[in-house]
Amino acid sequence: MKKYDFPEGFLWGGATAANQIEGGFNEGNKGLNIADVLPGGKERYKILLNPGFDFEIHPDQYYYPNHEAIDFYHRYKEDIALFAEMGFKAFRMSIAWTRIFPNGDEVEANEEGLAFYDCVFDELNKHGIEPVVTISHYEMPLHLVKEYGGWRSRKVVTFFERYVKTIFNRYKNKVKYWMTFNEINSSLVMPIQGLGFSIQKEQDRYQPTFQAYHHQFLASALAVKMCHEIIPNSKIGCMILFAPVYSFDSNPENVMYALQEEQLFNYYCTDVQVRGEYPAFINRYFKEHHIELEIQEGDLELMKEGTVDYIGFSYYMSRTEKKAKTDEDSSEGNIIGGIRNPFLKTSDWGWEIDPVGLRITLNKLYDRYQKPLFVVENGLGAYDKVEEDGTINDDYRINYLREHIQAMGEAIEDGVELMGYTSWGCIDMVSMSTGEFSKRYGYIYVDKHDDGSGTLERKKKKSFFWYRDVISTNGEKL
Ligand code: BG6
Repeated sequence: MKKYDFPEGFLWGGATAANQIEGGFNEGNKGLNIADVLPGGKERYKILLNPGFDFEIHPDQYYYPNHEAIDFYHRYKEDIALFAEMGFKAFRMSIAWTRIFPNGDEVEANEEGLAFYDCVFDELNKHGIEPVVTISHYEMPLHLVKEYGGWRSRKVVTFFERYVKTIFNRYKNKVKYWMTFNEINSSLVMPIQGLGFSIQKEQDRYQPTFQAYHHQFLASALAVKMCHEIIPNSKIGCMILFAPVYSFDSNPENVMYALQEEQLFNYYCTDVQVRGEYPAFINRYFKEHHIELEIQEGDLELMKEGTVDYIGFSYYMSRTEKKAKTDEDSSEGNIIGGIRNPFLKTSDWGWEIDPVGLRITLNKLYDRYQKPLFVVENGLGAYDKVEEDGTINDDYRINYLREHIQAMGEAIEDGVELMGYTSWGCIDMVSMSTGEFSKRYGYIYVDKHDDGSGTLERKKKKSFFWYRDVISTNGEKL
C-alpha cells in the first residue's frame, strides 16, 4: 500500500460536541439550549427543518436523547483515558454556552460551568492531548431564542462577546486551538440550530436569515480579534460544512447552476470569515431576493480585522446538481440536497460516500484561500453489531476512514497545507440530525440505544486498534 507523508505534529484525533456527549442537561446550573428541546426519533428531522416548533420540552410525548447523551459530564476521565490510549494528539469538543451563561444574557458567569471545563482541559493536558474548542456548536441558549429571536437580534452579538471573553480569559493557558461557529453555512438550509429561529414561509426567510448571518459574522470577527489579544499564541478558525458541488453533466446550464450553488453554500460564509469581506457574487443574490442588510458604521472594518487563522471544515459527502430536477432525482440521504450520483455508494443512512471529494475539497479550499486547513469532522455513521464474544468488527468504518485519509495524503502531495484530522464521533453519541444512538461513528462503542436504554458501558471496536496504529505511524500504516 502506498505510504503517505503527513507532516510532523499533524493533529490526529477525534471530534465531538457538548450537546451530543455530555448529558447532565440540568446539572451544574446549566440552562436549556436548543439541543435540549429536540426530540429523538423520526420527528427530529422534521422539526429541524420545519416551522411551527414551540421550543418546549414535552416529556410525555417525546424522548430527549441529549438530556443524558453518553454522560460524558460524569465519565470524561474514562473517555479521555481511552482517547489517550489511541494516541490522540487532539480532541475537538465544544463548550456549552449554557453552562457558562445559562440564559445567555446574564452579566455574571456560572462558576460551576467554568470549573467543569477546567477539569476537562486539565485531564486532556495530563494526557498530552491538545483541546480544539468550538465556541458554539448548535447549542445556543434557549432563552436567547425565545426572548430575542436568536441571531436576528444584534443584542446577541454583545452576549456572545461576553461569553467568549469569559472563556478566553479563563482558559487562556489551557486552550490554543479555537473555532467560532460550527458549520456556520448549514443555517442556509437548517436555520434552527445555528441561527436560533425558524421561518414560516420560504419567501420570508431571506431578509432575517442574512441579517442574522451579518450578526454572526460580527460576532465571529470579535471573537477572532479577542482571541489574538487575550491568547497571543492561539489559532482560531472558522468551521464550515463543505460539500463540493458537481454538475450532473457537461451542459453549461448545469455547470453554471452547480457553480452558483457552490458559491452560496460553500463560499459565502468562508469568504467573509477568511477574507474579511462580502464576496462580489452575493450582491446579485441579495438584489434578486430583496435583501437589504442593516450594516452599521464600523461593521465592515471589524469584519476585515477579524479574519481567521485557519479553515476548519466537516466533510461527509459531495453533492451533485442539475438545474431542472425532479423528485425522482433526489438523493434523499444527503441533508444538503442534490441529486443521486450514480458513481457513488451510500451509507446506511443514504449519505453518499466520496473520498475523492475530500481531495477535491482540500484542493478547492487551498487554491482559493491559501490558508491552513483542518478536517475537523469526517466519518461513517453506521449500525454496529456486538458479537457474542463482545467484539465489534467495524471493517466498513475502517475502510471508509482509510480511503478518506488516503485522500488527505494525496492532497498533501498536491501541495495543500493540512493541520490535522479529527474524525467525527470518536466515541458513539447522539446523532445530530436524527437524535439516534444507533447511528454510530465511534472507535468506542457506548451501550446506549434509541429508546434510552443501555448501561453506558464503553467497548473498544476493531477500528480503535486500527486508528491507534494510524496515529502511532503518523499515517504510514493504514
Ligand atoms: C455535522 C455536525 O453536521 O455532522 C455534527 O457538526 C453531526 O454535530 C455530524 O453529529 C454527523 O451528523 P449526524 O446527523 O449523523 O449526527
